[in-house]
This record gives sequence, structure tokens and C-alpha cells, in this order.
Amino acid sequence: MKRVRKAVLPVAGLGTRILPAAKATPKNMLNVFDRPMLAHVVAEGRAAGIEHFVVVVGRGQSAIEDYFDRGFELESELASRGRDELIAQVRADLLAPGQMSFVRQMSPLGLGHAVWCARELIGDEPFAVMLPDMLMDATPGGLAQLVAAYEAVGGNVIAVEPAPEGEAHKYGIVALGAAVSGFDGRLAEMTGMVEKPAPGTQPSNLFISGRYVLQPQIFERLAAQEAGAGGEIQLTDAMIGLLERQPFHALTYDGVTYDCGDPVGLLRANVAVALKHPDLGAAARAALLALL
Ligand code: G1P
Repeated sequence: MKRVRKAVLPVAGLGTRILPAAKATPKNMLNVFDRPMLAHVVAEGRAAGIEHFVVVVGRGQSAIEDYFDRGFELESELASRGRDELIAQVRADLLAPGQMSFVRQMSPLGLGHAVWCARELIGDEPFAVMLPDMLMDATPGGLAQLVAAYEAVGGNVIAVEPAPEGEAHKYGIVALGAAVSGFDGRLAEMTGMVEKPAPGTQPSNLFISGRYVLQPQIFERLAAQEAGAGGEIQLTDAMIGLLERQPFHALTYDGVTYDCGDPVGLLRANVAVALKHPDLGAAARAALLALL
């Protein structure tokens, strides 16, 4: 079984649910307490053993490349002021040279199209997809749990979780078969999927929560470039096609997901990360209590 070494991070979306905040700042660069949303997700990927991140960007998102590059002017200014601890902080999120690549999604045709844009850099090996606006608060991290499940069953493995009451139509929803032993009922065969089902038609209440381990044959399915729900090329539709040929499993991962694509979700993520912060958590708690 090939190890999962690479991850695709599609970030080119317009962020329509969080305008105007995402007008001049890429959505994934919006702050979650102490660093951009995307930096939290890259850290989750590194903790799961990811060695190469393929970030699928759109126009006007060069702030992402700058964030993950050395800030020479900033660092030399900090050095001249003797602020070595700040230099260490700004370097903490940087990967080794060559461990992050950027691909342009030239047209906003949907999530499936964004993932397909990474095909040349992924090549012929299993890979992860991480949707960076879904921030996972979990120990071990969300992707690490998924990779552990993949190492047990192989094939394709998708993280899922219960959808909030009445919200299944906003997501991809899975249908499940038999549970896999040894995972406390949390890992099960997938028998079907549907993207954004009409209210009342969903096959379960479990939604696809933004972390995937996929086999490279998904790119053959994505190459067909057929539009699905919402007129977009959907990753879920390509997975449905691959389900005829390869096993898929769903892992109900152990943790909490914050959907940072809308203002309230981003606020919840900020508060959750603040309260757990090793140095600033106590001050954040006191400030929040004072406000309430
Ligand atoms: C995408 C996926 C969907 C998944 C969701 C999680 O939808 O297509 O299956 O449940 O992400 O956030 P989108 O949020 O792009 O509409």
C-alpha cells in the first residue's frame, strides 16, 4: 500500500458566504486567532505526515504564496531590533523549500475541477484533499485519523460527521453499509453518495466534512468534466463514478468541525482556538467572559 504523502488544498473559491471580508483577502487567509485559517490546516496536514502541499489558487491570491515564503524584509527588520522570538514565530508555519506548490484554477468551475487542476503534481499515488475552510478541532488531527483508517482498509476514505438538523442539503451526504471492526463503529463501507440532496431525500445524516484520501484514478473520472449539483464540476460525482470500481469507506472522525466559510463559523473557530491557546488562552477566556 502506498503512503499518503501529498495533499491538495483547493482555495480558489470566491468566499461568497463571507463577503466583504473575503473581497481583498483570500478567504483562507482570514485569521483564526493567531494565524490564517490555511496555516492551521497545513499544520494538520504536516501532523498527518503530508510532505507536499498542492495549493490550488485563483487570481488575486498571492498573499497565500507570500505567507508561506520567507519574509526577508520583515525578518531583517526584526533581527536589527533583536526580536529573535518573533522571527521564530513568523517562520513556524514555513515548510522546507519545495514542499509547497501552487497551481492556478483558471476558471471557477467547481471543487472537482479544482482537484483535477492538481493532477500533474499528484501523479500516480494516493493523496489527501483538505478543504481549508473546514477547520477540524481534533486530537489526533482530522487528517491523521483519516490516514490511520486508510492504512487499515486502503482504497478511498472520507471523513464524515452528523449534519446539524435540517442542514443536510448544504453538503455531500453518504450512504453506509457494513461497519469495519476495530473502529468502534466509526468506520464503515460506503455504498453511495449524493451532493446537496433535496431536503428530505438524504440517505443518512452524515455529511462529507472536508478531508478525503483518494486514489489517483479519481482524476480519470474528473477528466470527464461533467457539471453536477449547482452547475459545478463536483468531486462527489467523480467519487460516485469511482465507487463502481474501488472501495470507499467513511470515517466518523472524532472531533469538531468549524465551517469558517461563514462569519459565525469563523467566529466559533476563533473562540475555540483562542480558548485552547497555550499562552493566550487564559487571557482570551477572561476577555470573552467580560464581554458576555
Ligand atoms: C463541498 C463538497 C461537499 C462537502 C462540503 C464540506 O461543498 O462538495 O460534499 O460536504 O464541501 O464543506 P461546498 O462547501 O463547496 O459547497
